[in-house]
Amino acid sequence: MTDLQKTPQWDNLLKLAIEAREYSYSPYSHYKVGAALLTTRGKVFSGCNIENAAYTPSNCAERTAIFKAVSAGERDFAAIAVATINGGAPCGICRQVMREFAPNLTIIVGNVAGDYQVFRLTDLLPHSFGPENLPPVQL
Ligand code: THU
Repeated sequence: MTDLQKTPQWDNLLKLAIEAREYSYSPYSHYKVGAALLTTRGKVFSGCNIENAAYTPSNCAERTAIFKAVSAGERDFAAIAVATINGGAPCGICRQVMREFAPNLTIIVGNVAGDYQVFRLTDLLPHSFGPENLPPVQL
């Protein structure tokens, strides 16, 4: 359970997520979200939520960070920090996107004051569906 404890590393990742809120494009909800995704090689990708006048095309901060990383060739993730005004947890869609690449991901959920809790994705998304559930495609 030690990796669910607060550490200077998680303090710092949350700080980067708080900074990433600055670029949030959220004129409809006014709910700024920032994310900082740590790869197993020690690189950090930040992300913010990006809303849209048509609402449904809006993208969460976590997925912005993950898609930035994957599109830069990184698929091995150790942890993600998410920062909001009130410590809101990642939505279900983001949990499923995390699951695709990092079933054992550590998730730091925090607020702008720097308070946070550390979770495992397996606890936030139990009995999940993943790539290994799809039978091999016969070509
Ligand atoms: N949002 C995120 O960025 N991440 C989450 O996990 C929850 C929700 C965003 C989407 C939308 O821009 C705003 O927060 C309000 O739902």
